[in-house]
Amino acid sequence: MNTTTGPRSRVQTAPPKLHVPGCGRRQQNHRAVNDGRGRRRRSGGVFAVNAASKNYTLTLLPGDGIGPEIMRVAVDALHEVGRKHDIGFSFEEKLVGGAAIDEFGTPLPEDTLECCKQSDAVLLAAIGGYKWDALEANMRPERGLLGLRAGMEVFANLRPAVVLPQLADASSLKKDIVSGTDIMVVRELTGGIYFGEPKGFGTNDKGERIGFNTMVYSESEVDRIAKVAFEIAQKRGGKLCSVEKSNVLEVSQLWKERVIKQHENYKDVDLSHMYIDNCAMQVIRDPKQFDTIVTGNIFGDIISDAASMLTGSIGMLPSAAVGSSGPGLYEPVHGSAPDIAGQDKANPLAQVLSAAMLLRYQFGEEAAAKSIEEAVNTTLDQGFRTGDIMQEGMKLVGCTQMQEALMKNLSK
Ligand code: IPM
Ligand code: MG
Repeated sequence: MNTTTGPRSRVQTAPPKLHVPGCGRRQQNHRAVNDGRGRRRRSGGVFAVNAASKNYTLTLLPGDGIGPEIMRVAVDALHEVGRKHDIGFSFEEKLVGGAAIDEFGTPLPEDTLECCKQSDAVLLAAIGGYKWDALEANMRPERGLLGLRAGMEVFANLRPAVVLPQLADASSLKKDIVSGTDIMVVRELTGGIYFGEPKGFGTNDKGERIGFNTMVYSESEVDRIAKVAFEIAQKRGGKLCSVEKSNVLEVSQLWKERVIKQHENYKDVDLSHMYIDNCAMQVIRDPKQFDTIVTGNIFGDIISDAASMLTGSIGMLPSAAVGSSGPGLYEPVHGSAPDIAGQDKANPLAQVLSAAMLLRYQFGEEAAAKSIEEAVNTTLDQGFRTGDIMQEGMKLVGCTQMQEALMKNLSK
């Protein structure tokens, strides 16, 4: 699959630190975690895997719902690929989202954010669940994720939607419409209406309650995400579509102006503009017209979900969130699927592919990333399917069996 393109040089970190000083040992943020070799260990201490020539420290955030199940598969895959490519990993597991609310009364404990910032990269599974749905906005698991994105300053969210040939039939759209689709959505992740001030609740002139948020972008916020998107487009098909609502919103007019300005430095990229409503339609009507899309936080949230359906299942899509330096945040696009949590039904492949993105974008470990992607491909070729991507004639498996099949292919 083609997720190989991207602004690698922009997102690589300095040579990895070998140890996270004090990370995790200070706190009682302990949970048992499978180290990928069948041993259960406490997560409070850093556990190193082997004495490889390179060593990376990863913070693992399994979160809620199916999160812990799919994270185990990704950790297993990283161990195996590390063994093959002489890469050592030290993993530190921390709580975020509902799990952190239950244990510490907050969706993002300080210790979790600190540990993430001090590690070389962060692998997140998913957060949220029915249990916490009734909490006020500030206390919800989602707030933990937003705090993490803001705290780590990962403003660029790369969400590839690639239709794998094996799964073209699994899409709810016609095969000839979706097959060959390869879109990269570059979503601005730390600004826009998600974070704009003022926001809150109040009362209007009629004494009626109101709720409000502010959609705001500064020039520099647009410039930096535009640069990332142009650089990605350069390494892909050379086409960038900027998506906004400048026929109505001032914030989008500024967005469009700045994207056009940045284009002066990337003349080799073919730039186009599209309103978000039209884009929602075009993505479904003719997805192959798109190469790279750049858009703001909320439009990107929506359009990346729409694009995910082209691929057959949101359970297949990884993502990367990166800043201008430092550790990135790698997570599947899908959520915590509380309806199937703990039933061994989850599709772990988006999580595994997120680990591959981590290897590629954070560390430039192209061969290791490819190993993982190829093993995923082979596993699909062999007919293994979880429920979300099941098709006639294929082998329906749960998360554990998918893991076993994947690991067999990875260790070949
Ligand atoms: C996503 C999710 C999040 C978002 C939620 C869980 C806060 O929908 O990553 O797309 O809106 O960004
Ligand atoms: Mg979303």
